[in-house]
Amino acid sequence: MNDLSEEFGMVRELTLDEAELLDELLSELGESRRKFLGQSSAAVLTALVVEFLAKKNVLAGTPSLDLASPPADENAVSVTFKVNGAEKTLSVDSRMVLLDALRERLGLTGSKKGCDHGQCGACTVMMDGKRVLSCLTLTATCHGKSVTTIEGLAKGESLHPVQAAFLKHDGFQCGFCTPGQICSAVSMLDEAKRGDLSYVSTDFKQKAQAMQLSDDEIRERMSGNLCRCGAYPNIVAAIREVHTGKSTDPMAMAFVKEGDHAAI
Ligand code: FES
Ligand code: FES
Repeated sequence: MNDLSEEFGMVRELTLDEAELLDELLSELGESRRKFLGQSSAAVLTALVVEFLAKKNVLAGTPSLDLASPPADENAVSVTFKVNGAEKTLSVDSRMVLLDALRERLGLTGSKKGCDHGQCGACTVMMDGKRVLSCLTLTATCHGKSVTTIEGLAKGESLHPVQAAFLKHDGFQCGFCTPGQICSAVSMLDEAKRGDLSYVSTDFKQKAQAMQLSDDEIRERMSGNLCRCGAYPNIVAAIREVHTGKSTDPMAMAFVKEGDHAAI
């Protein structure tokens, strides 16, 4: 390091490379170093050196990035699929996951990146009506499929019933997990209508038919969606209301003991 603080009044020390470049700058200016320094203020010197060094692209030690022209995708594949009813064609890196394509290529930022490892459910969307974790779904596998995100659930100004129930029952606090919770719930209720069994289902012999879900069933079927705010009781209440079709008063429900919901 070459301490130029005496000469420049500069706080930062210049590296040897920078000092060499400074000499190069001074020789380009046609001045002797000492004479030039004596005639210049510290601020002027600092600005000159920094600009010169930046032009030489040595301050950071790395090439400057041209953000306006991102590098072309490696292993590009063309994918055509429907997103919230509209056909989209994207050229994406074959390794790009659906979550990144939605957020960064299509501007649909409702789906959230929580863990990026398939463990939190914040990225849940629906593909051909079934819930999927978009952080673990390669965009290339979506070709010809239909994807629905939280942005595609409402019909104009009318919220989807699950969205409205989440609002009514305060099924969220910070809201980060909420798009994934809602997409998961919408899809899960369809699973119940089809009679799909879960880990806590007790009658494995019944023919596939619409199921009446207990709170335990709702909790189990939603267990892939974590909520760090702990809004679980309200999430269950919102889903229960849509599932049963029975409107409940959130204030009244606050005084109901756990396990007594079935009687309401
Ligand atoms: Fe996909 Fe967490 S971000 S499961
Ligand atoms: Fe905050 Fe669920 S509402 S994480």
